[in-house]
Amino acid sequence: MGLETILALGVVIAMASGGVYSTHNYREALSKSLIFFQGQRSGKLPTDQSLIWRANSALSDGSADNVDLTGGYYDAGDNVKFGLPMAFTTTMLAWSVLEFGKSMPKELDHAREAVRWGTDYLLKASAPLPSSFYVQVGDPNADHGCWERPEDMSTPRSVYKVTPSKPGTEVAAETAAALAAAALVFRTVDGGYSKKLLRTAEKAFAFANRYRGNYSDSLSSVVCPFYCSYSGFQDELLWGAAWLYKATHNSSYLSYAQSLDIDYDSDTFSWDNKIPGAAVLLSRGFILEKNEAVSEFKHRAEKFVCSVLPRSPFKTVIYTPGGLMYKMNGSNLQYVTSSTFLLSAYAKYLKISKQTSMCGDLAVTPLSLRGLVRKQVDYILGDNPNNMSYMVGFGDRFPQRIHHRGSSIPSVGLNAEAIGCEQGFSYYYDGDANPNVLTGAVVGGPDANDEFADDRENYSQSEPATYINAPLVGTLAFLAAGLQP
Ligand SMILES: *[C@@H]1O[C@H](CO)[C@@H](O)[C@H](O)[C@H]1NC(C)=O
Ligand SMILES: *[C@@H]1O[C@H](CO)[C@@H](O)[C@H](O)[C@H]1NC(C)=O
Ligand SMILES: *[C@@H]1O[C@H](CO)[C@@H](O)[C@H](O)[C@H]1NC(C)=O
Ligand SMILES: *[C@@H]1O[C@H](CO)[C@@H](O)[C@H](O)[C@H]1NC(C)=O
Ligand SMILES: *[C@@H]1O[C@H](CO)[C@@H](O)[C@H](O)[C@H]1NC(C)=O
Repeated sequence: MGLETILALGVVIAMASGGVYSTHNYREALSKSLIFFQGQRSGKLPTDQSLIWRANSALSDGSADNVDLTGGYYDAGDNVKFGLPMAFTTTMLAWSVLEFGKSMPKELDHAREAVRWGTDYLLKASAPLPSSFYVQVGDPNADHGCWERPEDMSTPRSVYKVTPSKPGTEVAAETAAALAAAALVFRTVDGGYSKKLLRTAEKAFAFANRYRGNYSDSLSSVVCPFYCSYSGFQDELLWGAAWLYKATHNSSYLSYAQSLDIDYDSDTFSWDNKIPGAAVLLSRGFILEKNEAVSEFKHRAEKFVCSVLPRSPFKTVIYTPGGLMYKMNGSNLQYVTSSTFLLSAYAKYLKISKQTSMCGDLAVTPLSLRGLVRKQVDYILGDNPNNMSYMVGFGDRFPQRIHHRGSSIPSVGLNAEAIGCEQGFSYYYDGDANPNVLTGAVVGGPDANDEFADDRENYSQSEPATYINAPLVGTLAFLAAGLQP
């Protein structure tokens, strides 16, 4: 066979099995989606930092309380280290590695590095357990009143903690989830680190469970309205217990999860609501490992899948005219990436176990799930009414004016002199393209009519966030692996 025949056959096979084929390079997108996390780093940057417009920042974080809280991630376009979204980001990066690490051979080290940048910080935040636990660095109200590069922030780096009398169950339980998931990521590559992660995860979970309360009540205006926990903390207790069960095989965590009063009719998976994630994670044990003790979770995972699939009779999620899942006006793409991650994982379980699921009369197959995942990711990467990629630095046309302080102000390398709180706003309002490309950042995305403003002031559309990218890492690896999940 000549080369052309082989190539032509390849296209035909791809079309026959996938329905559509796209020209997007998922491996390139995967690689870029991980570079983004370098742009969000706080603390002292390593010598192999490849986004070189960033430099060291917040090197005294924690000094307000005489502790070391340097490192970790800025959540989005500001310079605060918010514990709840940072822990969720870390959990989803770890799950991406656990579920799809085999499909990202070239990027596995980078993905582990991204997990570790989160867990190194979460270990510092957990150091005072069991007496207290740090959940945030940076006064968010002061920070949001300024437009400054992280490298020359001038706002108070206040530290915030939860304690037995001012508890924060959701943030402590999410941290337990992150540390337990990461313990599995490092189990074979760094046993000592993995054990430390797991021990700390158990301590964080015990603290979360023993001192129950919403951190939104304990810390009010420093976490709300930024990352107010609207869903309460039962979902994080479920999620934390599910990850600890997976990491320890200790059935007391499973009994605990099963004893919680949870409504599994939820079509939302996010930094706030973990219920569908926990259902899919626990369903894995039944579908793939035939663990009868978790048999009820297959049905619960199906509930989520059936709420999302466009032709499902139980669909509750809406789609834009251009075909994008649409959940909320604020940072909608976070729900697209988190939902498609769960669909990818579930497709993998069904495929390997040769099982199917049903949504009423609709048969759910690995291929139909994959088709939906692919459609959503292709939309993000450019197959949409604006012909625009919503991943910065990917494709010919992508957002130029993202709502991100560091990206929008000339870098310290080019402009070493400090640019103050108010001064920065001249860059915010100038209407010019950002000078620094935050490679791989996926923004909040278009509105319910597929319209996108590319406007820094329109932050619900133009702001990137770590929890938008984290689940996408796994999904891109799933798609990059071709038809073999
Ligand atoms: C925590 O917040 C949720 C959601 O707002 C609320 O339903 C619940 O009663 C709160 N729990 C406590 C212990 O304050
Ligand atoms: C399982 O976890 C529970 C709760 O943390 C603990 O009390 C128990 O000792 C653990 N069991 C084993 C076998 O490790
Ligand atoms: C988005 O905002 C519009 C206008 O304010 C509102 O009508 C619509 O219900 C919102 N959509 C969602 C999914 O929140
Ligand atoms: C997107 O591309 C299609 C096909 O090339 C074209 O018909 C359409 O006008 C383009 N839309 C925009 C907004 O550029
Ligand atoms: C953001 O842009 C969208 C689409 O152009 C528009 O509908 C929305 O009103 C804008 N929001 C703000 C706050 O400017």
